[in-house]
Amino acid sequence: MGEVDPAFIQAPEHRPKLSIIEAQGIPLIDLSVLNSSNDTIDDALVAKIGDACKKWGFFQVINHGVPLEKRQRIEEAARKFFAQPLEEKRKVRRDEKQVMGYYDSELTKNVRDWKEVFDLTVQDPTFIPASPDPDDEEIDEWHNQWPEYPPELREAFEEYVKETEKLAFKLMTLIALSLGLPGNRFQGFFKDQTSRVRLNHYPPCPAPHLALGVGRHKDSGALIILAQDDVGGLEVKRKSDGEWIRVKPTPDAYIVNVGDIIQVWSNEAYESVEHRVMVNSERERFSIPYVLNPAHYTNVKPLDELINELNPAKYRAYNWGKFFATRKLSNFKKLNVENIQIAHFKIQELSNKLEGGLTIN
Ligand code: OGA
Ligand code: NI
Repeated sequence: MGEVDPAFIQAPEHRPKLSIIEAQGIPLIDLSVLNSSNDTIDDALVAKIGDACKKWGFFQVINHGVPLEKRQRIEEAARKFFAQPLEEKRKVRRDEKQVMGYYDSELTKNVRDWKEVFDLTVQDPTFIPASPDPDDEEIDEWHNQWPEYPPELREAFEEYVKETEKLAFKLMTLIALSLGLPGNRFQGFFKDQTSRVRLNHYPPCPAPHLALGVGRHKDSGALIILAQDDVGGLEVKRKSDGEWIRVKPTPDAYIVNVGDIIQVWSNEAYESVEHRVMVNSERERFSIPYVLNPAHYTNVKPLDELINELNPAKYRAYNWGKFFATRKLSNFKKLNVENIQIAHFKIQELSNKLEGGLTIN
């Protein structure tokens, strides 16, 4: 990546502060009670998960049941893949037709991220609308592309996702219970899931005060389980005061965050929180988010059990597949319009509506 291309430079108000706040940070939750043979779920654990979702939208888990060697195997394979020359990586690059694979010029809010990625879909094939056009009923199939090197990447990925998926479903059970719902309430949405995994590589950056590994954003999926290495760089916007807080790497922990879909399902009981990634001039960093997403035909809307006259639905329903297809397209190009956001489906209060219609933020 060499010289810093102006495409990477953040506007002054979005540049990272070089003084890092690590504070107490996001809650650390021990899941070991889930590993015991008895099936009853611990109320104290459910309460901790609910609290963390409400206060932070982010937490870390330890004793999560994902074997360390599975994680190490995919981390090692990712390292080997990214260490190759660019022309090798570009043999499996993604484009508008083949949307899984290698990519090094993603934009977040129209600024380039200082990173390269390799995208994988959990179910191969994954079914997704061919276009954002609501009248177009054509469905595409997404397939994974496998690089020649390292040959073990495929198996490492397949074994890793089996484990992270189990963890994701356990967490969705805990989240359902914490909202007062039956533990299996979310299960049906994931039958034809569109979940994905991304291998992220953040090379050292000569201008870490001007560029970001990933610009500020919220995750649009349901639940994200992130493995970060020991370098650190992920920052979460603290809900209480809007301060950016560094998530301190904890060995063998996973970082979990609530995505936009849970925000809508829960009618904002839980909110998807903004985060970003800082880079540094010395050490490269690797991370692997697993993003749990529902079937493309899911109409995402506040759950009936969570709305009533006093707490009416805050969102209109939206089709997940069309939303995803729209997002996918805009991450390739610099567009003059804002990326699609759940805010576009927010039900405005009457007073706002009268003042100026739908606002785009
Ligand atoms: C992302 C993301 C965080 C990280 O890819 O959406 O927020 O630490 N990544 O890499
Ligand atoms: Ni993210």
